[in-house]
Amino acid sequence: MSIFDIEIVKKYIRMCQDGWEQGWHERNGGNLTYRMKAEEVEACRPFFREPGEWVNMGVAGANLAGEYFLTTGSGKFFRNVEPDPEHSIGIVEINDKGDAWRIVWGLEGGAKPTSEFPSHFMNHSVRVAATNGECRVIYHAHPANIISLTYVLPLTARDFTRALWKSATECPVVFPGGVGVVPWMVPGGADIALATSELMKEYDAAVWAHHGLFCSGPDFDITFGLMHTIEKAAQICVLALSAGQGKIRQTISDDNLRAIAKEFGVTLNENFLD
Ligand code: 13P
Ligand code: ZN
Repeated sequence: MSIFDIEIVKKYIRMCQDGWEQGWHERNGGNLTYRMKAEEVEACRPFFREPGEWVNMGVAGANLAGEYFLTTGSGKFFRNVEPDPEHSIGIVEINDKGDAWRIVWGLEGGAKPTSEFPSHFMNHSVRVAATNGECRVIYHAHPANIISLTYVLPLTARDFTRALWKSATECPVVFPGGVGVVPWMVPGGADIALATSELMKEYDAAVWAHHGLFCSGPDFDITFGLMHTIEKAAQICVLALSAGQGKIRQTISDDNLRAIAKEFGVTLNENFLD
């Protein structure tokens, strides 16, 4: 028996491999965190080592005090998670003030949690509050098509949401609340963490201009599926704009969007409809 026989660790590693196979994780691009359930922490505890030092995060989330997170390591490659998990991923514990982490498993050889841990942490904090504790996964990736749209569409939630909803019929069902957009900012610190978490109070996904996408969800399937759906819609949008040289001959109308919402029983964000 090893920690890699535990179901949640297997599923976490599988999601990293899936993201790598999609081409969303060049080099060390992207990061994944999972807020563990109490029983998952207990299943993993026999494999914990003497905890490391507490490290302050520069952000705080009191509602996450005492939680444990699976996290990818900073500078670590998604490509290497499956063949070398001990050096690529780890488990961190959060202190009782909700403002510092310490490593209890993995991240061997002096590795640290992702540089985007402050953004993940603040997103977890607001999504836990917004979903009555349902949200457990925050996923950041660098998918090429959604990034490329940040060079040609206005950087607003309304413009991105409408473009994506109209690029694939299932989109309004998968993300009826729409997507937020963060303007270009320096990655890896408290400022971008706070800007993103402000948007995540309202949205379960946020685009980072000229950088990538953050998605949240209750489990790996839903969160990976959200990333996949948004990126697929972005790809269709890029292909249609390219093929038509910017001219769109016909598209899904706002009345069509309302009809989809009615049929599938979802409530679309009215701010984004004409
Ligand atoms: P890390 O290697 O620190 O996770 O950073 C990758 C990244 O995508 C930064 O936004
Ligand atoms: Zn990134």
